Amino acid sequence: MPPQKRTHQSAPAIRELLKPPNTSITALLQARATPNQRLVEAFGITSAFVSSDPKVHKDFSSQAKRLITSSGSKSHGWQELAQVAEAAVLKWLPEQNLDYPIFIQCLTFVIVLVGLFKADPESLRQQDIIFVTNIINKRWTDSKSKDALTMRQDDSLRKITECIDQWVTDRDQYPNPLNLILPAYETMWRLVAVTVAYIYRCCDNTLHDTAIAFGQNPTEAQFRAFANGGQAPSMESIILEALRLHPPTRRIARASELPWWQKLLGVPSIEIADIEAVHLSDAYGENPSEFNPMRFHPSRAHQQPELFAFGHGKLSCIAAPWAPMAAAVIVAKVVQQMEESGSSLTVGERIGGRSGWDGWSVAKERE
Ligand code: HEM
Repeated sequence: MPPQKRTHQSAPAIRELLKPPNTSITALLQARATPNQRLVEAFGITSAFVSSDPKVHKDFSSQAKRLITSSGSKSHGWQELAQVAEAAVLKWLPEQNLDYPIFIQCLTFVIVLVGLFKADPESLRQQDIIFVTNIINKRWTDSKSKDALTMRQDDSLRKITECIDQWVTDRDQYPNPLNLILPAYETMWRLVAVTVAYIYRCCDNTLHDTAIAFGQNPTEAQFRAFANGGQAPSMESIILEALRLHPPTRRIARASELPWWQKLLGVPSIEIADIEAVHLSDAYGENPSEFNPMRFHPSRAHQQPELFAFGHGKLSCIAAPWAPMAAAVIVAKVVQQMEESGSSLTVGERIGGRSGWDGWSVAKERE
């Protein structure tokens, strides 16, 4: 019998679930690892997402922190990331029609490999990148519906691991590169895709102008600047609004320890924090289902409750201070380079997530 689930859709219930009082780190990790076991079969990962060992957690978080401090934040990091992003966009902007999600997946994957893992851009063949990103998507989706044996029989994991091992070569530092590639790439491509989509769907040029100004000057001050006397959104507010309406991690699961007989009685043993639902509450201001970055204007500070896109409590995302600015840099470079190269984005009916991008494509405009 599959485990029974209970969903929590209010901010206090989500806080309580993700940051329970008087709970050891081992118990917190165990509660996360249990529902994530499908990822072991799907990707062979061994990280703190699937382990309850506090040492694995400590090493994993330090390694992830090192990874992001080497790119972005202090020093020349953002300029460097901007250069990596610009080169990736130029390489991936297609001559002929390409499905929009494939374009964003490939370029985000390349930026993660080159910007974070310092892979050699010359080693990244286009057909391999398309293959690997496609398999990651497929195995992620399959892991939700197919059993462990079926997942094992399909040898696509071996094939993508072979590719990745050629790109990320420091085996001492990254014995299992997918441990870190996965949480970074899987979330970032969707945030970038959603944000660029809103910029192109916006009826006037306000969001576009903000992205262009930020692309020309990718600094933290510019990230926070509301232009036009405070009337136009900042790049940060655009990203926060994308994270609010389309959190890449829509639901966070935790297992609760129950005696076997309670499980048989159908008592829920998996608790779900429904991040997407809580972000749609009117605590975030009026018309919560509408994309409106101005709700993050400092003058509305009283209407800006906590976002849960990066989780909550001790196991929350270590990249929360880095990812919004990094995503903004990628978004801005996409918009800037699309404009400079005369490319156009065909807009579909609805904004997707891991799937659901029917009708969206990108191509160079004909002269
Ligand atoms: C928009 C981008 C991102 C989003 C929305 C996001 C979201 C999340 C969420 C919701 C969690 C908590 C999971 C849970 O409680 O079970 C998490 C954890 C984590 N994320 Fe992210 N993430 C993003 C980017 C990244 C990046 C770029 C990296 C890395 C290099 C990263 C590394 C991690 C790690 C290592 C953890 C586990 C932290 C721990 O166990 O203490 N994330 N992320």
